[in-house]
Amino acid sequence: RRMFAINSQKPNQSLPSKKSLQPQASYKVAVLGAAGGIGQPLALLIKTSPLVSALHLYDIANVKGVAADLSHCNTPSQVLDFTGASELAECLKGVNVVVIPAGVPRKPGMTRDDLFNINANIVKTLVEAVADNCPDAFIHIISNPVNSTVPIAAEVLKQKGVYNPKKLFGVTTLDVVRANTFVAQKKNLKLIDVDVPVVGGHAGITILPLLSKTKPSVSFSDEEIEALTVRIQNAGTEVVEAKAGAGSATLSMAYAAARFVESSLRALNGDDVYECAYVQSDINELPFFASRIKMGKKGVEEIISADFQGLTEYEQKALEALKPELKASIEKGIAFAQKKP
Ligand code: NAD
Ligand code: LMR
Repeated sequence: RRMFAINSQKPNQSLPSKKSLQPQASYKVAVLGAAGGIGQPLALLIKTSPLVSALHLYDIANVKGVAADLSHCNTPSQVLDFTGASELAECLKGVNVVVIPAGVPRKPGMTRDDLFNINANIVKTLVEAVADNCPDAFIHIISNPVNSTVPIAAEVLKQKGVYNPKKLFGVTTLDVVRANTFVAQKKNLKLIDVDVPVVGGHAGITILPLLSKTKPSVSFSDEEIEALTVRIQNAGTEVVEAKAGAGSATLSMAYAAARFVESSLRALNGDDVYECAYVQSDINELPFFASRIKMGKKGVEEIISADFQGLTEYEQKALEALKPELKASIEKGIAFAQKKP
């Protein structure tokens, strides 16, 4: 395996000095599935973070070239590549944040649950390695169906005796990114100001934007609420259909996942950070639920319940309607992980 270090460059006046390439913090981030549609642009965005000192890229193939390419960016982090199961343990040693976008994406006509049979095994195997090699890391699960893969990851970590519910996250940031974009467009708001909490899960009707909690406060007609809610819930399918067989969201997902990585690193670095994520939760009777969370050095510090007070009738009904599907997806994941081989 090759190691790409920015410091190995020869001194050159046109390059920034070595000093300016020191990271502001020294966190190690691993991306598992780094050669894929999400993995590559995500790795690029993480490479630009001043908080990262090492970026470990793992895939079953094609990762050497991605690492060689990225390593030429004059940003502080060292890029290391790891190919195949025999290099996975080394990839994970000493890592603070592990991001998992490994797995197959949807094609038109498929639901996220149709990916279960392939992706459940991939996530199980990768999380077993995380448990063995960096049990203290924040774990970000992107692989679909997130509603089931996060419970699978939790079970695997429990079986290994290292489950820390504060450090396991299903990445739902893309739902928030989409909600913010669509609401700003519809209401002609400055994008930078708009923040919509999205709760529940990450598939179809389990994705529930709480439009009544939009910041800045904004009023919607019933028709606008219905149209925006449905568009946010179907936004993944919108991209799958536009790509017409060539996969699902990769660039917007990389953007969203990079935001969640940066938030996690800021939390590890001592900031209080708020994001939506799908986590173990006591917000209602379901064991996993997406909501706004406060993150700190130890992971989830608080599940924000305030968003669930004063819901509109539309949101209340949608919240009750999503629970059976989400419950079934959680139970499917747990049953898979508990199944004897
Ligand atoms: P892709 O096929 O382009 O890339 C997947 C990568 O995973 C490939 O490079 C492949 O080699 C790798 N891979 C497969 N098995 C592996 C294993 N055992 N170990 C390590 N790597 C392995 O797919 P993509 O477009 O990057 O999507 C990846 C996953 O992310 C899909 O399941 C997709 O549904 C999901 N996704 C989730 C969200 C979300 O909001 N959470 C958004 C978009 C996509
Ligand atoms: C998304 O929301 O874009 C992802 O979950 C990918 C998909 O299958 O829609």
